[in-house]
Amino acid sequence: MSSDASPTIGFLCGSLREGSINKTLEKALTKRFKRAGAKTTSINLATYDLPLFHGDLDMPPGVKKLSRKLRSCDGIVIISPEYNGGLPPVLKNAIDWTSTDDTTHFSQRYWAISSCTPGPMSGIMCMRQINYILMRLGAHVSPIQVGVGLASAAFDDKGELIAEPSASLADKMVADMLAHV
Ligand SMILES: Cc1cc2nc3c(=O)[nH]c(=O)nc-3n(C[C@H](O)[C@H](O)[C@H](O)COP(=O)(O)O)c2cc1C
Repeated sequence: MSSDASPTIGFLCGSLREGSINKTLEKALTKRFKRAGAKTTSINLATYDLPLFHGDLDMPPGVKKLSRKLRSCDGIVIISPEYNGGLPPVLKNAIDWTSTDDTTHFSQRYWAISSCTPGPMSGIMCMRQINYILMRLGAHVSPIQVGVGLASAAFDDKGELIAEPSASLADKMVADMLAHV
């Protein structure tokens, strides 16, 4: 945990899109963590130098920078779109690159997973894949996942997550993370 009593929770969004519904979910979860007393930080993958990984590339400086940023957090929440039943390449690329450096930002941190979709299925397939990958990397992963389907009706005009059961799950996720970091 950070030197003062408040843990820092990092948010890693798998969508870089302006107007992303997953960014809306990130903001709603951020508010909930702040209300519970946590410090929060948004980790914007667009600001890290992360070319598409392949084994002949030298590690770009963005990899260590991202690993350090993740290690500076006590817990990390992934908020991810679902692409064709899986996780988006921008997120997989970041996970793969940083796993070639050092995996303590996975194995020594508490992680949680969430997803937002326009349709009703709430990203359950991509959350399952992300969970598997994080566990392969030794991460402690919260059993509480926040899937938000039918996004256009899930938030109020202040950006609060209001749809059930997602809103109750978000409260449970906050409590579970803060109990583990
Ligand atoms: C290549 C691609 C594949 C997609 N596959 C799925 C899918 O499997 N399941 C789903 O619920 N939505 C799928 N969608 C729709 C996304 O959930 C939707 O575009 C969403 O708004 C993306 O998240 P964002 O708004 O945070 O960028 C897909 C979108 C794209 C571009």
